[in-house]
Amino acid sequence: MTDSIVTGFRETGFAVVTGLVAGAVLDEFRAEASRLVRRFTDGGYRSGDYWSFEAPDTGEPVLYRIHNLEKQGSSVITGLFVEGTFHHLAGTILGKPVRSTVAAMIVKTPGLAAAVPWHRDRTFVSPHTVCNLSLFVDDSNVDNGCLEMVPRSHLLANDADVTRTHQRGPVHLVTARAGDVVVHDVRTVHGSRPNRTGAYRRSIVIEFASVDAVLPREEG
Ligand code: NI
Repeated sequence: MTDSIVTGFRETGFAVVTGLVAGAVLDEFRAEASRLVRRFTDGGYRSGDYWSFEAPDTGEPVLYRIHNLEKQGSSVITGLFVEGTFHHLAGTILGKPVRSTVAAMIVKTPGLAAAVPWHRDRTFVSPHTVCNLSLFVDDSNVDNGCLEMVPRSHLLANDADVTRTHQRGPVHLVTARAGDVVVHDVRTVHGSRPNRTGAYRRSIVIEFASVDAVLPREEG
């Protein structure tokens, strides 16, 4: 990892670490992502951790988030949450010892995923103390609803108007390849558009906080 990633994160509120996961390890995460999604789509599994909405046309449930991802019976994903590469990366980026706090899978179902409205994950934490690491297991681009960020918005006041901030822009389209990790400060204003393709766009997201950060509430 280079200094430019740390500098970019601090200055703009986000950065992309390319090719962090590759080869057989990436294949394993992809397989686990598929398995967990199929539990819902094919197996009919339902739980309070599997967040869905009803498709406007058919009323069918559309999965969009698997919450408490580290508790869903995947040893490789639980391992990623507990220790290792991501902790090291988050610690380097925040410049402090870190702990993992939340894990989820974001699922953009082919042709059905809605846009994610512009938002900030958290505001009542200081800039550069809490970040989200998103491991993309599929390529993410404009067509399938890549992350979109407003640079430097992590430095805005806690009560900054999110709508006006993204309308004023600039908006940066954060595309990623499978195996890339997108890092963003939880204060950064971001959103994403619908998935208009025929393939899933999935990411494994883990939030990291510096060990001395106090998190007033848990959200994602
Ligand atoms: Ni978010």
